[in-house]
Amino acid sequence: MKFKSPGPRGCFLQTALGTLPSVSQSIKSPPSELPNSGIDHWMLSGELTYLNHGSFGARPKAVHEHQEQLRAAIEGSPVHAMDEGMPMQMPDIKTSLGTFLGMEPAGIGLVQNASEAICSVLRSIQFESGDEIICTRHGYNAVLQLLRYVANRHEVTLHVVDLELPVLCPDTALEPVLSLLGDRTRLVVIDQITSPTALVLDTRNLLSECRKRGIDTLVDGAHGPGMIDLDISSMGATWYAGNLHKWVCAPIGAGFLWTDPSRLDQTHPVIISHGYEEGYAQEFDWQGTRDMSSWRSIPFVLKWMEEAWGWDAVRAHNHDLATWAHEMLTTSLGVEPLSPLDGGMLGSMAAVRLPPGIQERLGDPLVLQKMLRHENQIEVPVMELGDEWFIRVSSQVYNRPGEYELLANTLLAMQ
Ligand SMILES: Cc1ncc(COP(=O)(O)O)c(C=O)c1O
Repeated sequence: MKFKSPGPRGCFLQTALGTLPSVSQSIKSPPSELPNSGIDHWMLSGELTYLNHGSFGARPKAVHEHQEQLRAAIEGSPVHAMDEGMPMQMPDIKTSLGTFLGMEPAGIGLVQNASEAICSVLRSIQFESGDEIICTRHGYNAVLQLLRYVANRHEVTLHVVDLELPVLCPDTALEPVLSLLGDRTRLVVIDQITSPTALVLDTRNLLSECRKRGIDTLVDGAHGPGMIDLDISSMGATWYAGNLHKWVCAPIGAGFLWTDPSRLDQTHPVIISHGYEEGYAQEFDWQGTRDMSSWRSIPFVLKWMEEAWGWDAVRAHNHDLATWAHEMLTTSLGVEPLSPLDGGMLGSMAAVRLPPGIQERLGDPLVLQKMLRHENQIEVPVMELGDEWFIRVSSQVYNRPGEYELLANTLLAMQ
């Protein structure tokens, strides 16, 4: 397979698909495994080939045990834990998270997940009839549904922009969004890493253009923290919604909303509670009784991962493995890649087209996903975008090259 670079901007054009190598023929070496990174250090059962870290993350055993201890302590004295323990812990939680992701603690509102963070933003904006929201077709379906709901409720026009596949040039990928910005644009919602297609989008140009024009921006960073190195407050977004239970490997129920200092007073959590109109921190810090052990685990997991492997090493390993898997899978399956094979648009996931025949025969992506799970013990999501299906593989430190080769062989045998 040959690729050529047409110019200085790092854009790649695909030429013809060459002869397909067999699965075991190595294209480029996968990265070496990190020490003590095997699946036995994780809560995952080990009976599955787990190529879907991206959906709900996974927890190292040490993180799970820490959360269990926190839960036991909370249950031992619930009133003290909620009334005094949690407020006492908050500064440490926000400082460690802020240091890790480049956010000032005052801008951090803890939530349970990215959906909650995004709903908080959409509910906080006072839309007027005729306003416009722009997002892309590569957005997460639940978020697109929320945007449709908002559009219907407030007579807002929703533009769902297509980003053509394959995306050959990171620099120009978001031009279709830029070209739609106008006087009525009230909000742009943009994924940092797209869910169905696993593309890392370069949002810099778009965010700066929106800022210049006074247009609010919400970055859906559900996959960002832990996958790519972030300095959120310097990105130029109005809001950034992040998950910690995906790539930070925090317990399920740990997410956050970062808000630009200029918008703190106008941004409210989905659940309005005692803290209403007492400031951003007061409003977000108490949203009713809930299991706060996930939030309280954040400083522990950040430190534990750093001490176990180092965040830079985790990100580099996962990116290199995803880049290798991307090339191996596209070549083995004989399909056109969705983005350049140099991995320039990948983080720790890669989406790959299916070999011809499977989609037509099975008709429903969930049928394939369940077949792979139950008949082949492979956990991998089958994503649908328009009328095309993709498998989206994730790479975390516990994954090994042979697992992707097993997937390739399994898919080839299904043809
Ligand atoms: C891009 C994107 N946004 C938002 C979400 C929602 O995350 P959660 O279910 O944790 O709220 C996801 C979940 O996978 C996602 O991939």
